[in-house]
Amino acid sequence: MRKFLMTTAAMALALGVTQGVARAAEGVEVLHWWTSGGEAAALDVLKKDLEGKGIGWTDMPVAGGGGTEAMTVLRARVTAGNAPTAVQMLGFDILDWAKEGALGNLDDIASKEGWDKVIPTALQQFSKYDGHWIAAPVNVHSTNWVWINKAALDKAGGKEPANWDELVALLDKFKEQGITPVAHGGQPWQDATIFDAVVLSLGNDFYKQAFIDLDPAALGGDKMKEAFDRMTKLRSYVDDNFSGRDWNLASAMVIENKAGLQFMGDWAKGEFIKANKKPGTDFVCMRFPGTQGMVTFNSDQFAMFKVAEAKIPSQLEMATAIESPAFQSAFNVVKGSAPARTDVSDEAFDDCGKKAIKDLAEANTAGTLYGSMAHGHANPASVKNAIYDVVTRQFNGELSSEDAVKELVSAVEAAK
Ligand code: GAL
Repeated sequence: MRKFLMTTAAMALALGVTQGVARAAEGVEVLHWWTSGGEAAALDVLKKDLEGKGIGWTDMPVAGGGGTEAMTVLRARVTAGNAPTAVQMLGFDILDWAKEGALGNLDDIASKEGWDKVIPTALQQFSKYDGHWIAAPVNVHSTNWVWINKAALDKAGGKEPANWDELVALLDKFKEQGITPVAHGGQPWQDATIFDAVVLSLGNDFYKQAFIDLDPAALGGDKMKEAFDRMTKLRSYVDDNFSGRDWNLASAMVIENKAGLQFMGDWAKGEFIKANKKPGTDFVCMRFPGTQGMVTFNSDQFAMFKVAEAKIPSQLEMATAIESPAFQSAFNVVKGSAPARTDVSDEAFDDCGKKAIKDLAEANTAGTLYGSMAHGHANPASVKNAIYDVVTRQFNGELSSEDAVKELVSAVEAAK
């Protein structure tokens, strides 16, 4: 008996080792744009998790916030018949690839692990196509956040701005302090990220009509003109070198007391944490003035491509690892996002993370949770890029607000 037990154990061990080696040999090749300090630290949590399970990792980083460049590289890879195992992807892009028949099928593990019950419907909309699971959601970010340098805020009186006028007053005080009021990087997706928040601050119905319904009356009306006027005002608070600056370098300006605040999604928190800064002590996180109770979200998901048979086991193990509640907590604490499952405790999260989780649940219940236009969760890439173009030209003074609303209507119409 004893001998039998030992033999079984030895066999199991041998089998496990062999499987481990086979998996490591196949491993996973992962295309992503998580290249900033905070993003890389979060990705490391996933790499280590998989390494611990004997799954090798081939890294395919493509720098460029928001993933514009990554999506171009992906297209070239797939066209060459060489799709990566897993690709970080946002919203409508996932559905576009699914439509092309390029994605695999995660139904078996999703049903075994009960994903349907714990992953919010707002995310499932992008993780499923034609009723089948095609992607594993990693997190939920949102774009309507402000990241404020605490010392600068205290010097300015310490009050968080509750509305647009108070925000402008605060930015004027930052100017008087001799720092750059708004840390910003002039890249289309960053301009669009601010625009998400500015439009939302003019009413959650307005955001829905404009960006979800693409209603020409909302896109071309007085409120949209006001949104562009606000962009012009914010533009007056950025420094001379903002053009082309990466978002994480803008975060660094706030971290290093060179700027007052940054309007950015909660991936910015990853940079503050990486720099050992503490919420409430070194920086303050708040919703863009006028948008408390509303959330414009984006969820990073790993779209799983159709790959050779031998690669499928590691691909499925990666998806399983991503959806494990322990991983969801460990990863999102570092990334600045909320978990992609509703059953993960907020205990390990800092105050900003707890707020992100709470705001998300509340907005979901209140019906004020919308997909982010800037991060591909409101429209397919064609429409998103048409909006980017108008927003960036207007932000850079190439279009007046009056002309921008007209262009927005026609550009969206043409891209639909
Ligand atoms: C977003 C993505 C985030 C973060 C950000 C900046 O689109 O959802 O995870 O990476 O871009 O790179």
